[in-house]
Amino acid sequence: MKDQYGRNIDYIRVSITDRCNLRCRYCMPDGIEWLPMDEILTLEEITEACRQAATLGIRKIKVTGGEPLVRKGCTELIGMLNAIPGIEQVTLTTNGILLSDFADELRRQGLHAVNISLDTLDPLKFARITGFDQLPKVLEGIRAMESRGIPVKINAVLQRGVNDMECIALAELAKVSPIDVRFIELMPIGHGKGMEPVSNPEVLERLRAHYGTEHISPDPRTHGNGPARYYQIDGFTGSLGFISAIHGKFCQSCNRIRLTATGEVKPCLCYSDSISIKNALRTGSPGDVKKLLQQAIQQKPAAHCFERIQTVTEMKEMSKIGG
Ligand code: GTP
Ligand code: 5AD
Ligand code: SF4
Repeated sequence: MKDQYGRNIDYIRVSITDRCNLRCRYCMPDGIEWLPMDEILTLEEITEACRQAATLGIRKIKVTGGEPLVRKGCTELIGMLNAIPGIEQVTLTTNGILLSDFADELRRQGLHAVNISLDTLDPLKFARITGFDQLPKVLEGIRAMESRGIPVKINAVLQRGVNDMECIALAELAKVSPIDVRFIELMPIGHGKGMEPVSNPEVLERLRAHYGTEHISPDPRTHGNGPARYYQIDGFTGSLGFISAIHGKFCQSCNRIRLTATGEVKPCLCYSDSISIKNALRTGSPGDVKKLLQQAIQQKPAAHCFERIQTVTEMKEMSKIGG
């Protein structure tokens, strides 16, 4: 379905839980309180919401969290979503800790691709950023996906003075493996607000200084359904991606809506506005759900508002929105 600005909305990001087995400081504080389970949509309700979304032209589904794999039934859900008529692709964004445990099941359920959050290759820094000493499990998860032929993209958020000097080490992951490494500009959402971001133009400059400007060129191929812009480095198997929410506003080509774990449909990541479909799913008809989804698509704003930071003050934790 097209929104009022003519953008084709064919992608839904579905957060299936607010819970997580890590505590990345920019996303989630220590001592965070989880949502009660009865406020969270059941897997059947999520599937029904996506079925209605598919009748409106949604073709791709991203399963996110919190950490989606901590929710019981996550892998089955991927199979249920894949079976919806019209859905062409179901992908997962995860911190990777549980990937190796679920690798076979994920392949069996037809997962098309996986994005793995990984901000550092230094075990000590990993523990500092995420609160847990679990880097080996993430690396194991990457290998488990590779060996099963499930395409991998890495998501790295750089913070100045914490892991910004790691951009080359992270980029090197794309050298011999067909892994895309993406740098995400830290967004001023929730706890990300007080932290010092590194702009993507600066990261690209650092890569150019290291590999030589003449060896880095824009990569015109499509690598996913998200806002990343890609570059190739001579001799690299994978590509380098940049998700530049702040320094490269991509709202003109926005193709998505979001469904939170509690059944709120968010037309845009940046604004707190949302439309609840929970009651419609629980007591209404499929037509009611479809109407609300339609409304959310129609209400999509032209662009996000990160540059007007005061409008983002109500923004909850990123973990509750699903990134
Ligand atoms: P693929 O390219 O299909 O894998 O999708 P993606 O890049 O959208 O997926 P992923 O879940 O890995 O998201 C990566 C980052 O992009 C996260 O930090 C998201 O918050 C951010 N992102 C995704 N969509 C939007 C958006 O509409 N607006 C903003 N500002 N950020 C977004
Ligand atoms: N800014 C940018 N990216 C963020 N993520 C979580 N919080 C933020 C933030 N404030 C990223 C995670 C994960 C993706 C889903 O969202 O690192 O890769
Ligand atoms: Fe968990 Fe991802 Fe948030 Fe880190 S960024 S705390 S892995 S949901």
